[in-house]
Amino acid sequence: MPRLVVMISGFGSNLQAIIDAVNEGQLSAEIALVVSNRKAAYGLERAQLAGIPTLYFPLKPYKDQGLSREAYDADLAGRIAVVQPDLIVLAGWMHVLSPAFLDCFPGRVINLHPALPGEFEGVDAISRAYEAFRRGEITRSGCMMHYVVPTIDAGEVILQVEVPLYPDDTLEHFEGRMHAAEHHIIVQAIRLCLENERIPL
Ligand code: GRF
Repeated sequence: MPRLVVMISGFGSNLQAIIDAVNEGQLSAEIALVVSNRKAAYGLERAQLAGIPTLYFPLKPYKDQGLSREAYDADLAGRIAVVQPDLIVLAGWMHVLSPAFLDCFPGRVINLHPALPGEFEGVDAISRAYEAFRRGEITRSGCMMHYVVPTIDAGEVILQVEVPLYPDDTLEHFEGRMHAAEHHIIVQAIRLCLENERIPL
């Protein structure tokens, strides 16, 4: 059974989508570990409720000791390598990983980003897309799963889906539509990667 490590920093609704897909037999994989860099991440509770091992691994102790992000990334990779993951899924993981981490898992780290390739990279992509819509600049955004490279939210796209915006949308309406799309493509992308059948775009 392929082994997944899922990395989170927050609410964990995408982690929950993966947990549900595994439990419902839609995804033939095992979540070997859930990692969070934030203690308060509700996703840690979701993992514990599902009986999945968790690892809380904060950056702050490294910064307090004057150690580099690369030192953190390398140690984090070491802790994850122990569970021998076939695929590492960044699901709302809010820390840019350096080659000190990525080089340990070449071609095996994928990321969910709530925007289309080349648009709204970085944080707050959903609200930034909504503001652009309000300015009349776009009528759709989207989300994508991509392979992780050192450049943020770049890397080969595995799956992407458009998410429309409508005139009477509030931000909450749009966010709900976006998260529903995310929960779908994150499971699809994991399945494709594990079957090693990436859809060429
Ligand atoms: C998602 O929109 C994800 O794309 C972004 O943060 C949100 C995480 O949601 N990076 P959750 O923690 O999976 O609920």
